Amino acid sequence: MTDKAGLEGVVAARTHLSLVDGERGLLVYRGYLAGELVRSRTFEEVAHLLWHGALPSHQQLEKTRLYLAEHRSLPVTVRRVLEGLDAEHDMMSVLRTAVSACRPSQEWPPTVEDAMMFTAMLPTVIAYRWALQSGRAPIEPDPELSHVANYLYMLTGKRPDPAIARALEAYMVITMEHGLNASTFAARVVTSTQSDMASALCAALGAMKGPLHGGAPLEVMVMLEQIGATEHAEPWLRRELEAGRRLMGFGHRVYKTRDPRAVALRSVVESLRTGDPWFDLAVQVEDLAIRLLEEFKPGRHLYTNVEYWAAAILGTVGIPKMLYTATFSASRCVGWTAHILEQAENNRLIRPQSVYIGPMPS
Ligand code: SDX
Repeated sequence: MTDKAGLEGVVAARTHLSLVDGERGLLVYRGYLAGELVRSRTFEEVAHLLWHGALPSHQQLEKTRLYLAEHRSLPVTVRRVLEGLDAEHDMMSVLRTAVSACRPSQEWPPTVEDAMMFTAMLPTVIAYRWALQSGRAPIEPDPELSHVANYLYMLTGKRPDPAIARALEAYMVITMEHGLNASTFAARVVTSTQSDMASALCAALGAMKGPLHGGAPLEVMVMLEQIGATEHAEPWLRRELEAGRRLMGFGHRVYKTRDPRAVALRSVVESLRTGDPWFDLAVQVEDLAIRLLEEFKPGRHLYTNVEYWAAAILGTVGIPKMLYTATFSASRCVGWTAHILEQAENNRLIRPQSVYIGPMPS
């Protein structure tokens, strides 16, 4: 058995932002079921809800939209940094570097404007750098397009099909916030020292990069590609589990039932790929993996987590595989910054204890 440290089950903050109910499989954002917000609200509306605590009026929404639009283009300093990085930099390292290159806000406490500025720029950083790496000219954001549609436009140069933009928006809304996951907790620890928002976001990006956290969607796609066809699924999954390897997209520290985000995203994928044999394969692999995980790991309650169907959405809307975790970060920037603002409000240094298991001086 693994050492059950890792703060499992430890309450490390009180928050107004979200409820992650692992037993009932519920995710609530500021009093609203996240699954309902996905169906009826835009990225800008839900971001406003998380930052301000209420859904926006028409005027407030226009103000949020305008601010995001005004801060979507990259400052010259950030462009120069992105152009100067060599090709080896993966996109998560690029995001960390771009956040560090932003005009440092010396204000304490950080403000919602700081949160909106970082949230506005992350998709542009990703698209700008991806263009440079692909050997083509970066595309400037279109002020007429929404936050999510702009991301697809800057990546492809084409105004996205509304159904595709809505599917990506559903993904970015449902992954926007998720309580004290590892990257959000890292951001709150840094904020608790009264450091600045950019430093807290760099800590969050560093944590998100890991395959046990944000790096899973890419591995899920690799798994489905390697399985290739339904008849190969069981032998492939058994081989992985017999070798003691983890199935990416399954298991969760909090959810001991199906992750409600996976449920929400699966229906979005189904609406886009009904009848597509790839979708049928993904459904078969999901059901089989859950059955085999119970066989190999009885009583661990290992079910589908958000990443399994997140990979399907991102693949379907055409996000390049190498950008999956960065895209997750672009949506989670809202949750990170909302927690940073909340932590800064009634701030106390986060400093847990540890049990010393080393030798004592003789
Ligand atoms: C995210 O916290 C959040 O909210 C995160 C997130 C968010 O929105 O921010 O939801 C996003 O991070 C989703 C998770 C993405 N990662 C993966 O899909 C990677 C695969 N999943 C695992 O590595 C794992 O399930 C974790 C890391 C997600 C959770 O692991 P825990 O809670 O630390 O559980 P554990 O490692 O102690 O595992 C308990 C047992 C172990 O077996 P035993 O040692 O008891 O025999 O379950 C096994 C593990 O080996 N196990 C798995 C497994 N996950 C756990 N076995 C096979 N496949 C898996 N996926």
